[in-house]
Amino acid sequence: MLTIRDLGVNFSGFWALKDVDLDVSEKSRHAIIGPNGAGKSTLFNAITGYLKPTTGRVNLDGQDITGRPPHELVKSGLGRSFQRVNVFQDLTVFENIQAALLAHHSRAYDLFTPGARLYRAEAEAILEQVGLKDEANRVAATLAYGKQKQLEFALSLASEPKILLLDEPTAGMSPRETSEILDLIVRIQEAQGFTLLFTEHDMEFVFAIAETLTVLVQGRPLATGAPADVRDDPEVQRVYLGGHASGGKDAA
Ligand SMILES: Nc1ncnc2c1ncn2[C@@H]1O[C@H](COP(=O)(O)OP(=O)(O)O)[C@@H](O)[C@H]1O
Ligand SMILES: [Mg+2]
Repeated sequence: MLTIRDLGVNFSGFWALKDVDLDVSEKSRHAIIGPNGAGKSTLFNAITGYLKPTTGRVNLDGQDITGRPPHELVKSGLGRSFQRVNVFQDLTVFENIQAALLAHHSRAYDLFTPGARLYRAEAEAILEQVGLKDEANRVAATLAYGKQKQLEFALSLASEPKILLLDEPTAGMSPRETSEILDLIVRIQEAQGFTLLFTEHDMEFVFAIAETLTVLVQGRPLATGAPADVRDDPEVQRVYLGGHASGGKDAA
């Protein structure tokens, strides 16, 4: 459903991404792994419209979306989560979800809008799904870090993504929080059937969750395939995974 060809990003002479070909299948869980500075975030930024690629094309569902701005891409079903900027700190959890639903449905708020149009039922359903029901009336700024992350994930669901891109969704989390939020993400991804493209530094979780794995090294894809095959690839072993074939945090 997502097809990337010859993608390149050049930062004043330095190719952060070069010759990237990548196919992400519908409804799959596809992880991008690689050392720090490999270009993972740059790849996500180029796909989601936060930076314009220097070369190449990005296709979503057969449509060329190269260089289109983020808000247009969200409308096309390309969601991106875990951006602190999307959370209104002064609004409650419930109001944040309502605002995201309103934004998605492009309905301007006005005093004559009947209650039903404020997406109360939809907001409640999302809160229930992500396990934030008890926090519905809390002001976002007062939430603990893990709950903030859950809220950001909830907000990304409001746009009903066909594909969701998560760049290190568990950054800064404890192993327990990491395990909880990844469980949640997988549960909702399976229930809603969207495609998930993500990066994650903890190899144990990557191998537990991903159906397809791409190893990115110095801006170029080194290998793509089923996790077990990629893990056993001698070149991947040599360049990246090294002694961490069975999984472990150090590999990142
Ligand atoms: N805006 C930028 N300007 C210049 N160089 C950048 C910029 N963003 C990233 N880079 C460089 O591009 C490379 C890839 O970075 P990044 O995509 O953040 O890697 P990763 O997410 O895999 O750790 C790094 O060498 C980084 O320093
Ligand atoms: Mg990164």
